[in-house]
Amino acid sequence: MTLGEGSTPLLRAGRLAAGPGVEVWLKCEGVNPTGSFKDRGMAVAVAKAVEGGARAIVCASTGNTAASAAAYAARAGIEAIVVHSVGGPASSKLAQVRAAGARLVEVDGSFDDAFTAAEELAERDGAVVVNSTNPDRIDGQKTAALEIVEQLGGPPSLLALPYGGGGNTVAYAKGFLEAGYPTLPIVPVEAADRATTSASAIRIPTPVHRAEVDEAVARSSSAIVSVTDEQIAAAWRSLAREEGVFCEPASAAALAGVDLLDLPEGMRIVLVLTGHGLKDPAALDRLPGEGS
Ligand code: F0G
Repeated sequence: MTLGEGSTPLLRAGRLAAGPGVEVWLKCEGVNPTGSFKDRGMAVAVAKAVEGGARAIVCASTGNTAASAAAYAARAGIEAIVVHSVGGPASSKLAQVRAAGARLVEVDGSFDDAFTAAEELAERDGAVVVNSTNPDRIDGQKTAALEIVEQLGGPPSLLALPYGGGGNTVAYAKGFLEAGYPTLPIVPVEAADRATTSASAIRIPTPVHRAEVDEAVARSSSAIVSVTDEQIAAAWRSLAREEGVFCEPASAAALAGVDLLDLPEGMRIVLVLTGHGLKDPAALDRLPGEGS
């Protein structure tokens, strides 16, 4: 059960400045089959659902989980039902879902409401929930942490990534723990205004994994960082203009976050760029600051 997910590039960012003597690496998860990191976990979750006899999967999504679920369900020959909040996901993500023939259910509310509705639908229809509350998703996603250690020839000094629901943070923490690095600092970066950020992928009022994220952060004496939409937009432009890496706005939160930290010289840090820029081309005109 694969679409060729994983084994994504880890690129040295030579032109981005994250502080004197700080080495920056970009884990380019946007090159996964459906354009986001979600494919790693979805491959495992759908395979396990099929193994367990499921005929349908269901998820709530801000768009990327949806696109991934739709593709892997199509590949497996089962039904996918996607619940999203009206006006939530970027239109390219909904195009991916529709192209794969998944069923879309709109909820007039936030992502939190969509999540509740998805759980109710699953209960009613006997479908398997493939949100990150499904442990198979986490086990698939943790492979990114193992890959980074392999690609660098050792652990990074710090890893930063966008923080929406927190599933990805939990997955990296599990991966590094299992690789023998239980205290590797992980910096989850969230939108200062979670409910209204223009980085639609992480527009999630209440993170479902908050307790586990807090625990992972405490274990590594790290900290959660909040960034404004202006800071996300500035980081997003630098990634494209300084490094030629076009990611979606939410992904740039990782860089925006570490820009606020005072990193000591000699650090080797990894930023997880979770989704491709083509996922949300309208961001060029929507994000605050200078246009194209
Ligand atoms: N970056 C992107 C591009 C995302 O799509 C998401 C989450 C995140 C970061 C945050 O990851 O939730 O594990 O902390 N997207 C989910 C979705 C919510 O439905 O596609 P997280």
